[in-house]
Amino acid sequence: MRCTSLVAAASAVALAGTALAQADSTQYIDAVTGFTFSQYVNDKGIVFRTALPADAQVNANYDAVLQLIVPISVGWAGFAWGGSMTYDPLTIVWVNGADVVLSSRMAYGYYVPPAYDDATYTVLKKATHVNATHYQLTALCLGCTLWGDSDTGITSIDPTAKGSLAFAFATAPVTAPSNNASSFSIHDVVGHWTHDFSVAANDDFNATVAKNL
Ligand code: HEM
Ligand SMILES: *[C@@H]1O[C@H](CO)[C@@H](O)[C@H](O)[C@H]1NC(C)=O
Ligand SMILES: *[C@@H]1O[C@H](CO)[C@@H](O)[C@H](O)[C@H]1NC(C)=O
Ligand SMILES: *[C@@H]1O[C@H](CO)[C@@H](O)[C@H](O)[C@H]1NC(C)=O
Repeated sequence: MRCTSLVAAASAVALAGTALAQADSTQYIDAVTGFTFSQYVNDKGIVFRTALPADAQVNANYDAVLQLIVPISVGWAGFAWGGSMTYDPLTIVWVNGADVVLSSRMAYGYYVPPAYDDATYTVLKKATHVNATHYQLTALCLGCTLWGDSDTGITSIDPTAKGSLAFAFATAPVTAPSNNASSFSIHDVVGHWTHDFSVAANDDFNATVAKNL
């Protein structure tokens, strides 16, 4: 009896140690934009997709494409590139009439995250829209795959590996939808997942970006 429980305990530890081996994302080949994405869909039906250049290197500040598809009932949705609320680039998205607003933030504590200027986004307009049921953002980001400084440490996304990501969303609309620096209230729900970046290496990354500008 004692022996059996020891064996069970040992295998539980082994499983915990390999948690990142199991990805929650899957490959999604998008005929509309031409990107091959790694996709995660949460319980609310919010879709989170990343696409990377095939020549991306860990510890380099390479370009990335992020696509978010959000049910129209959601006031704002956020994507955390490093898997936590604080000290990683946050991409927040909401609707302003017929427009999708992208806001670049970084949190330094558990309060409204201020603007983050070290990430530069280019909205890919052909793949960004609002309709009766959803809003969709597709954006190129430079500064979302490497961040930090000598104090907090440098973090880089390994394009050949799995990484931890996080989301947050709220039903309540933001305070000033036309302003990308708007305040907003705390999330209703947050979540974490294991994202396999390696399934989304795009050979024609720059040409595909150009096609969707
Ligand atoms: C008004 C703005 C916000 C407020 C007041 C706020 C506040 C908080 C608080 C109080 C916690 C719980 C901390 C704990 O007990 O461990 C938390 C956790 C969290 N928040 Fe926010 N938050 C805000 C915006 C955001 C945004 C924009 C994101 C973007 C993705 C985000 C992502 C998360 C995540 C992922 C967690 C779980 C803990 C972690 O992984 O860091 N939050 N937040
Ligand atoms: C808001 O948009 C302006 C113009 O594109 C940009 O310079 C600024 O960084 C954005 N601010 C945020 C918080 O995203
Ligand atoms: C609305 O946009 C979503 C997200 O892009 C898309 O899946 C859906 O097909 C669109 N609906 C219509 C009627 O075009
Ligand atoms: C793609 O464009 C970026 C600039 O946005 C450039 O740094 C990179 O070298 C280009 N990659 C290729 C393969 O041409």
